[in-house]
Amino acid sequence: MTVSLAVDVFNDKKWQEIQLLLQTLDARQMTWLSGYLAGQSNKTVETEPPIVNEPEVLVAYGSETGNCEKLARQLEALARAENIKVVVRDLAYIYPRQLSKQSHVLFICSTHGDGDPPESIKNFYASLMDAKAARLPNLRYAVLSLGDSTYEHFCATGKQLDERFASLGGTRLTFRQDCDVDYHGAAKLWMEEVLKLIPRSESVESTTRQHIEQSEKITKSNPLLTTVLSNTRLSSISRTNPVHHIELSIDSKRVSLAPGDAIGVLVRNPDSLVDEVLEAASMKRDEVVTINHRTTRLDMVLAEDCDLTIPSNKFIEMWSQVALSADLTAIANLEHSEKKNFLKTYQVLDIIKKFPAKVDAQRFVDHLRPLQPRLYDVANSINLVEDEVHLTVKKYTYEFQDRVEEGVASAHLVDIKENDQLRIYPYRNSRFHLPEALDVPLILIADSTGIAPYRSFIQELQLGIRTHPCWLIFSEEQYEEDFLYQVELQKAMELGILKRIDTFFYHEQLDSSLGKTVVEQFDLLIDWLKQGAHIYLCGDKQLLTECEIEMTSWLMNSGKHEVSWQSLDSSHRIHRNLY
Ligand SMILES: Cc1cc2nc3c(=O)[nH]c(=O)nc-3n(C[C@H](O)[C@H](O)[C@H](O)COP(=O)(O)OP(=O)(O)OC[C@H]3O[C@@H](n4cnc5c(N)ncnc54)[C@H](O)[C@@H]3O)c2cc1C
Ligand SMILES: Cc1cc2nc3c(=O)[nH]c(=O)nc-3n(C[C@H](O)[C@H](O)[C@H](O)COP(=O)(O)O)c2cc1C
Repeated sequence: MTVSLAVDVFNDKKWQEIQLLLQTLDARQMTWLSGYLAGQSNKTVETEPPIVNEPEVLVAYGSETGNCEKLARQLEALARAENIKVVVRDLAYIYPRQLSKQSHVLFICSTHGDGDPPESIKNFYASLMDAKAARLPNLRYAVLSLGDSTYEHFCATGKQLDERFASLGGTRLTFRQDCDVDYHGAAKLWMEEVLKLIPRSESVESTTRQHIEQSEKITKSNPLLTTVLSNTRLSSISRTNPVHHIELSIDSKRVSLAPGDAIGVLVRNPDSLVDEVLEAASMKRDEVVTINHRTTRLDMVLAEDCDLTIPSNKFIEMWSQVALSADLTAIANLEHSEKKNFLKTYQVLDIIKKFPAKVDAQRFVDHLRPLQPRLYDVANSINLVEDEVHLTVKKYTYEFQDRVEEGVASAHLVDIKENDQLRIYPYRNSRFHLPEALDVPLILIADSTGIAPYRSFIQELQLGIRTHPCWLIFSEEQYEEDFLYQVELQKAMELGILKRIDTFFYHEQLDSSLGKTVVEQFDLLIDWLKQGAHIYLCGDKQLLTECEIEMTSWLMNSGKHEVSWQSLDSSHRIHRNLY
């Protein structure tokens, strides 16, 4: 804030008092104070209310792609049905010391990255692991841990939380349940088990209404069938990983989506892959199998329900038995890291082909991993463009053995045709919503498809209720053909919604980076941050993490102590949506 503005805001006496106080502070104190004040003035919508009235049970979750959050809601419903007083909270908004006021806490948490906690709970995790963390002698707790056994550090975060709470004096209510990708059964058993150990409250709450609401809700297990309105290529035709703009028709009254939210897409394996698997395993496509309480044809189950790329441990064990292969049995008994090396070069089909065998169709299906939905950010504002969902999808390709594989969902989506149908459900990404204040500046940093939510922000601003000055920093391959939504973005500049666009094209600016593009404008960045700007980072995890590191290290070395990255982060002014 400049002196002239300060004079407008404060009377002379108040301003003199502030000046006097500031003169007594050193650089560290100034940095702390700036972060504190920014946090006070820019509370975002996702800031949850404080925990009140000490409920009997706190269900606290840490989630990145929504599974743990969904289980937390499920546990809440089960608890209510048993007359247990319960409240659900995201660990992203809890300080560890608050747990000392809770008697019973049920934690549900996933592991991400390379054995790391979900991005949103990194601050909670760091404070909990800090040597100065408050002791929790009154805490009675239990941990449900979600993970994927194909990762080296299986359920690492759940295990660490469980051990840390015990070392801080907490008492385990029951065993920790580590769940693999087919977590539903194990999670449900754990929930039923743990609820038996919780005291019942006197007051009986009616759960009927809640049940009615939930049965009508569009969810992963009750998805919405949508129709494709159009599919347009946005990037260069010569790319192996083209980016497409896809429009779907929805009834917006049935699905609530705010700018920053995503949708989950229930995907299909390619027919060619299903055919190859059926042939290699000598199974008939019209055999009947049962999955998730549904009895149907084998080819449909292989297309819609089973992961046909990544083999599970139990699949390798089962296949080593039916193939009577000593080699495969030896692999099934390998240590995790060695087994991982094998999986790097063998997908399900590779195993079936290399170790031929015949298997019962039901047994085959029972040993495959469930096919996971994929998330895509919504690229339009439903408030402006009603009854449509727009997506920006990049075809994902990766090298596997001596071939190039295509991502299951993204390859299906970029090839999708008008009038094709797609099953979707809404995914609320409240940490990536617009700020509560309607006019704070926004710094929007995107690589490639990371532009999607910003397109929805810009459309939302066209409604005229919000007046955020916006600055976009965008990276892609080449200027000429890969400047996604270029015409729309220029229009947003003309309308005054975008105040500035900076770009970085990696095939043309070989000596630069996204981080450098931001750092080159650092004085401006500092200026915007001093005005209370929020920073949004969206797109490729590696690229944007590197960009953030470059920004933070520049800030640390710049001597500009008025702005501290840590305080921006803790006051929820940095929003990440990285994948
Ligand atoms: C919140 C969120 C928002 C997102 N928004 C967008 C968006 O707007 N646009 C967009 O394009 N994407 C977005 N994504 C990414 C998207 O969800 C998908 O992850 C992406 O499209 C790739 O999915 P796929 O099915 O095409 O690839 P997959 O088939 O899932 O392949 C992806 C990965 O699986 C690995 N893999 C495959 N087989 C094996 C094996 N046998 N062993 C080990 N590893 C294996 C591959 O190496 C690769 O890393 C978002 C993700 C999240 C979490
Ligand atoms: C990018 C990525 C990295 C992951 N890393 C791990 C890991 O290191 N260890 C593990 O056990 N699970 C890992 N998982 C699996 C998740 O923990 C699992 O999918 C979980 O169900 C996600 O729950 P959530 O949706 O609540 O975040 C990873 C998943 C993704 C998408």
